Amino acid sequence: MPPMIRIQNLRKEYRDLVAVKNLNLELEPGDIFGFIGPNGAGKTTTIKMLATLLTPTYGTAYIDGVDVVRYPEAVRSIVGYMPDFFGVYDDIKVWEYLDFFAAAYRIPRAKRAQIIDDVLTLTDLNVKKEAYVESLSRGMKQRLCLAKTLVHDPKVLLLDEPASGLDPRARIEIKELLKELRSMGKTIIVSSHILPELADFCNKIGIIEKGELIISGDVNEIIRQVSGHHTLEIRILDENTPEPSQLSIETLASQTPQEGGVAVKTSAEMERAIALLRSQPGVDEVKRSDGKLLAHYVGEPNQEWRILKALIENDIRVLSFGTQATDLEDIFMRVTKGIVS
Ligand SMILES: Nc1ncnc2c1ncn2[C@@H]1O[C@H](COP(=O)(O)OP(=O)(O)OP(=O)(O)O)[C@@H](O)[C@H]1O
Ligand SMILES: [Mg+2]
Repeated sequence: MPPMIRIQNLRKEYRDLVAVKNLNLELEPGDIFGFIGPNGAGKTTTIKMLATLLTPTYGTAYIDGVDVVRYPEAVRSIVGYMPDFFGVYDDIKVWEYLDFFAAAYRIPRAKRAQIIDDVLTLTDLNVKKEAYVESLSRGMKQRLCLAKTLVHDPKVLLLDEPASGLDPRARIEIKELLKELRSMGKTIIVSSHILPELADFCNKIGIIEKGELIISGDVNEIIRQVSGHHTLEIRILDENTPEPSQLSIETLASQTPQEGGVAVKTSAEMERAIALLRSQPGVDEVKRSDGKLLAHYVGEPNQEWRILKALIENDIRVLSFGTQATDLEDIFMRVTKGIVS
């Protein structure tokens, strides 16, 4: 299958500043690409060039085989672009806003009402159909902005920090929405400077810094390449952890905060768990943090289950066992270390 997005030597200069340095990238249909980088790295500049809103200084990109520099009009019908800032729209209702964009995409009037209902349902904004845009909360505005990018049913979505500035609940809602778009087979580029946010629904990621794509590829491949290890996060029921039924504001308040706000008095079971983890092949370091055990795993991939088995067989009451969510953050710091001046 030909690539859905092919970026070739894409470059953007603003006077002396090279915002994007000869970027190359290929994405297959259905790929969800997490575009990660710190502030000023060149994410927005790249996305705007793909969306045909900025002309590259050099190089080009092909979206579904169409050259963004030569045929911007044609590209616009294939892509849905969600900018990082929601513009100001006074005196316009939610449905009018969507109708406006649908008209701009030359969707016939007769079809618009149905499309508007569909995108409102998808973004869970039906109840706000008659509301004024300026009365929406930030999270709703963000969802409306996403709804707008979907009116012409684009194959490719370019989403510039869709979850920025949202509270945890709204972030999760956006994530769920992105998962739904993924299941619809869209090819998506989504930028963020928060890594764990992208980890669970992107199949590919790229890290950009100072205009250069310093690493890109399959998420798991990158994790293997860059880290070759990860941290297991294990919670066990130890005598100092109150049973969930006993958890109350009073018990929490009565604990003396030490070491990161957690009352620490290592129980025999915890000691046993630590000793056991330390003796496991592939585990090179065990730490206690916020009531959790963090075991640094450098062993064979996909053999972590053996550690869980050992814990259970030794009657350690394991409450949860998993990989630390901040792994990508860690990779990001490691990859970009030394490049940031
Ligand atoms: N119109 C412009 N004129 C001059 N320089 C610009 C312009 N737009 C962006 N830049 C510069 O280009 C670089 C890349 O900016 P860009 O907005 O693409 O970064 P970003 O990765 O999207 O950052 P953020 O995470 O803050 O959104 C920055 O150094 C920025 O100052
Ligand atoms: Mg940006």
